Amino acid sequence: MLIAANFKTNKTRCQTAAYYKEVSDFIAAKNINTEAMIFPPATALDSFEGKISVGAQNAYAVENGAYTGEIGLEQLDEFGIKTILIGHSERRHILGESQELIAEKFHYYKEKGFRIVYCIGEPLEVREESSAALMAYLDDQLEGIDLAYNKLIIAYEPVWAIGSGLTPTEGEVELIHTALRQKIKAPILYGGSVKTANAKELLSLNNVDGALIGSGALNAEDYCMILEIADSLK
Ligand code: PGA
Repeated sequence: MLIAANFKTNKTRCQTAAYYKEVSDFIAAKNINTEAMIFPPATALDSFEGKISVGAQNAYAVENGAYTGEIGLEQLDEFGIKTILIGHSERRHILGESQELIAEKFHYYKEKGFRIVYCIGEPLEVREESSAALMAYLDDQLEGIDLAYNKLIIAYEPVWAIGSGLTPTEGEVELIHTALRQKIKAPILYGGSVKTANAKELLSLNNVDGALIGSGALNAEDYCMILEIADSLK
């Protein structure tokens, strides 16, 4: 089981360090074996010492160069970062990243041996159309991605469930994860409004191997509680 926290554009360097320490202390005190992973904003990346994996929310497919506003491999190497989030819906829909660009990032960071948390998820209008349309949409988001990569982790996050407080029913989540499992052997996380109150139900479902959590994990205490719930389910 893997519980990942995506800070998005939240927390300073100082707040991230405090969060890391609080969660690390909790993991040690409670002897938690579930993997904890956090994605701080780029300005808060650092060489943290402890059991929590730290990843980048984004990076360009380049070592360094003239790409204003971007970071590349060099900036991640400085802190020993070997994990990256690719394909998040906010980058697809707000920042306008194309599947082509996303696949390019995937291949670059795969080549560099990174663990890749790769996000997919459908908008509401696609879900309302039909389940065939939904699966076809997810398939398109896997275009150009090596599903056999051994450091791949998929995060299924319905766009309409992100930050909205809404989630699909447990049956729907299980159905989609089970369908994805037919072609993906990698762990499949669920994301979209996971919080302390629904974590147990969602994490207990077949083919749900963990969660990617935004707002529900911003508070370190809540994140620790979800880690403990995940740990109790193993
Ligand atoms: P949320 O975000 O938990 O706030 O819905 C999840 C995500 O975007 O990864």
